[in-house]
Amino acid sequence: MNKLGKLSLCLCLAVGQGTAQARDRRLEPLSQAPGKAAQRGNPYASQPGAAGAGQKLYERECSGCHGTAGQGGRRGPAVASPTVAQSPPGAIFWVLRNGSLRAGMPSFSHLPEAQRWQIVTYLKSLQ
Ligand code: HEC
Repeated sequence: MNKLGKLSLCLCLAVGQGTAQARDRRLEPLSQAPGKAAQRGNPYASQPGAAGAGQKLYERECSGCHGTAGQGGRRGPAVASPTVAQSPPGAIFWVLRNGSLRAGMPSFSHLPEAQRWQIVTYLKSLQ
């Protein structure tokens, strides 16, 4: 192998390792929501049917990574968890909007706000 070949092999390995590390690294996105976003109240918190609607959305959009009942899975941490229970609804909403892309949590900003709040309501009803 010539020098250039060795160099690019080296680079490839380094990039591969970086990706594996990113996957293992937990970025604690809930604690990264800016104060103003975290303080937003959930307009759907006490609305009848919101948790049920959120559950359907959760099953469709989230359960593949976070488990059918939020217990966590190979691709995502538990969301039926003390961390989520103790996080302000606004912080969860913020994470759904922004994701935690480097750690593998996608953004759900393509869902209408109402649906994202319904999912927040469902997550808060777990535990
Ligand atoms: C492709 C896999 C994947 C999908 C789909 C996904 N998530 Fe995640 N989610 C993750 C990963 C990975 C993390 C960890 C992010 C980190 O540590 O920075 C995460 C983190 C979270 C967190 C923060 C949990 C904590 O303890 O820090 C919440 C809340 C969450 N996801 C909710 C959802 C909801 C609700 C949906 C569906 C609308 C969803 N996720 C869809 C992979 C996914």
